[in-house]
Amino acid sequence: MTSRFGGRTAIITGASRGIGLAIAQRLVSEGARVCITARKPEPLKEAVEALGGPEHAIGIPGRGDDPEHQDAAIAATLEAFGSADLFVNNTGINPVYGRMVDLNLDAARKIFEVNALSAISWVQKVHKAWLAEHGGAIVNVSSVAGTKPAPGIGFYGATKAMLTHITEELAVELGPNIRVNGVAPAVVKTRFAEALYEGREEEVAAQYPLGRLGLPEDVAGAVAFLLSEDAAWVTGRTLVLDGGVTLTGGV
Ligand SMILES: NC(=O)c1ccc[n+]([C@@H]2O[C@H](COP(=O)([O-])OP(=O)(O)OC[C@H]3O[C@@H](n4cnc5c(N)ncnc54)[C@H](OP(=O)(O)O)[C@@H]3O)[C@@H](O)[C@H]2O)c1
Repeated sequence: MTSRFGGRTAIITGASRGIGLAIAQRLVSEGARVCITARKPEPLKEAVEALGGPEHAIGIPGRGDDPEHQDAAIAATLEAFGSADLFVNNTGINPVYGRMVDLNLDAARKIFEVNALSAISWVQKVHKAWLAEHGGAIVNVSSVAGTKPAPGIGFYGATKAMLTHITEELAVELGPNIRVNGVAPAVVKTRFAEALYEGREEEVAAQYPLGRLGLPEDVAGAVAFLLSEDAAWVTGRTLVLDGGVTLTGGV
């Protein structure tokens, strides 16, 4: 059996750890070469090593919402590997917690820039540089917080709901040669979500019909499916990955 991503190159943003790194690992294990991004250079370097070094991966440090960084990452990918067939918009931030009526609007603008607007900017650039001519696939990492009210992280949820809508709009615009999908995870055990389960994991996991919280690998498997030809007739969909928790009214 041939590997699903042999000869393909993926750009995965926010991928020095957590869900992004698990996606990179999964894609490399199935034959892809990857460009990963994150703000801090050192952990990014370590992640590149963990992915097998420069033959398989490059790391380009920068802020996800910085257009110059976006250009640099795409140019470096094309130079190193000669293509940019797959794009995973994984960077997402949530620096504030609290009620929306008390929301700091400067923080909100930043969350919107990183979580929603940057997704469009990255796609515009990857489209121009590679996808328009050659086709490919895109996955946006959304959240179950974007599927229903999420008290305390409401604006984050609103930006993820927007991202899900952006996924649909892009899918309509970019077919038939480019597919655009998303994933919407519930709680996945990463640094980002630690506050949601630390010290009470068993109690939180009890709400999940599948009896446990998500692991980055759970998301990576779904993203790999959506990027692959196995999902050749799927576009505009955001796949909920939640261990069943939203069925029980949890999260
Ligand atoms: N974990 C969950 O429960 C969960 C649930 C639903 C959705 N999600 C979504 O999944 C995505 C990944 O989250 P995660 O849980 O894997 O988080 P994580 O473990 O904290 O990893 C975040 C990654 O993104 C990088 N990053 C953070 N801010 C960045 C920025 N402004 N520009 C560029 N890179 C940045 C981090 O490296 P640096 O710090 O060096 O930049 C790191 O590599 C996010 O979009 C998040 O909203 C997570």
